[in-house]
Amino acid sequence: MRRPACPVPRRAALAAAIATLAALAGFAFAAGPQAPPRAVDEVEVLHFWTSGGEAAALAKLKATLRAEGHNWKDFTVADGGGGLAMMMLNSRVVSGNPPTAAQIKGAAIQEWARNDRLASIDEVARADQWNTLLPATVSDTMKYHGRYIAAPLNVHRVNWLWINPAALKKANAKPPATWDEFFAVADAMKKAGLVPVAHSGQSWLDMGAFESVAIGVGGVEFYKRAFLRLEPSALVSPEMEKTLATYKRLKSYTANTGAGHDWVAATAMLTSGQAGMLMMGDWAKAEMRAAGKRPGVDVLCVPMPDTAGAFTFDIDALAMFQVNGRDKQAQQDLARAVMDKDFQQEFNLAKGSIPVRLDVKLDKFDDCAKRSGADFKSSARRGTLLPSLAHGMAQPSHTVARMWDVISQFWAQDKMSAREAMARLAEAARADAR
Ligand code: GAL
Repeated sequence: MRRPACPVPRRAALAAAIATLAALAGFAFAAGPQAPPRAVDEVEVLHFWTSGGEAAALAKLKATLRAEGHNWKDFTVADGGGGLAMMMLNSRVVSGNPPTAAQIKGAAIQEWARNDRLASIDEVARADQWNTLLPATVSDTMKYHGRYIAAPLNVHRVNWLWINPAALKKANAKPPATWDEFFAVADAMKKAGLVPVAHSGQSWLDMGAFESVAIGVGGVEFYKRAFLRLEPSALVSPEMEKTLATYKRLKSYTANTGAGHDWVAATAMLTSGQAGMLMMGDWAKAEMRAAGKRPGVDVLCVPMPDTAGAFTFDIDALAMFQVNGRDKQAQQDLARAVMDKDFQQEFNLAKGSIPVRLDVKLDKFDDCAKRSGADFKSSARRGTLLPSLAHGMAQPSHTVARMWDVISQFWAQDKMSAREAMARLAEAARADAR
């Protein structure tokens, strides 16, 4: 008897969780959990790439599959970050109607594989020698028991700080490298009548900024102890309390925009010059480009304060589900297309990330991407290449979702102290360890 799909709350709790997340995330999705069975040649892909830039990047993959005779069907969940998309995926798998493939992150890929829900694409990976093309950090999370079950598309860097140069000039300031410098720049921007930090009320973005603060305040080792090994002595520590206090201090430098103000709107606040800085991964570049801004020129990119030597990675991948024999060819074609050298260049130029294949040159990429490429390699050598907690690379999706909630509540509730938030975060992180 098969164990349930991805280890999630029971069906009733799952439905409640979906309703809660839906209310929180203000989402819309194209195909609900009970979508009708697919036509024979359809390739249905669950993803949350719904912004202009993301859709433009994905269009290249759709074109490849259509050219090979497959009819691409979107199962789209517009919620950014992917939290709700995973809930919708769970309900489809539990109801016995999984999509052909889904955009899933590292830790969740392993969860699905452990529950024997994924189809192997090892045949394609061996034929195309993926092991020689991918860094071990990447290939390890795409395999289960040594066989590939997911195809990686990209490497996003999360610990970026984006700066509008006109705002910097107006504040007569320089790009900050440390947290002391950051708050000095933010004060100068505030005095110049600008919103220093563009912010979106989405939980996954709160967590993305928080994890970068943790590295800057506590250091790489602290991040590994607290968020990779979930050590109680790190989760409850002076470093964690200082991280939370530094994170909350950011709030007075943001405009009160509400949860409906998503990551695309926050990025637009920066590109329009309404805000001076933005803490976000480099998927934001796709929207900057859509606004006619050149990353590295019209928008500056620097590592988040005090994180210059670290690289927090967020890798998007398509995991193939065990649907039935008819989709096998489509899944193999999809896997081959994702890792195609030309596709890797074109998709990542549009997406804002860097190619996951080591043999794709970055000559055509912007300076921020070139810096990402160099830092990815140097941080891998130094042991400061870190899986992003916020983007599901470091812990199971239900653990991450619980931690998102705590950080979002801490941000929203002015009365919640750093000490109380620290206790709740430790409880959320360790809930499965009991
Ligand atoms: C991340 C994902 C990116 C981008 C971003 C905003 O989790 O890896 O590809 O989609 O969310 O939605």
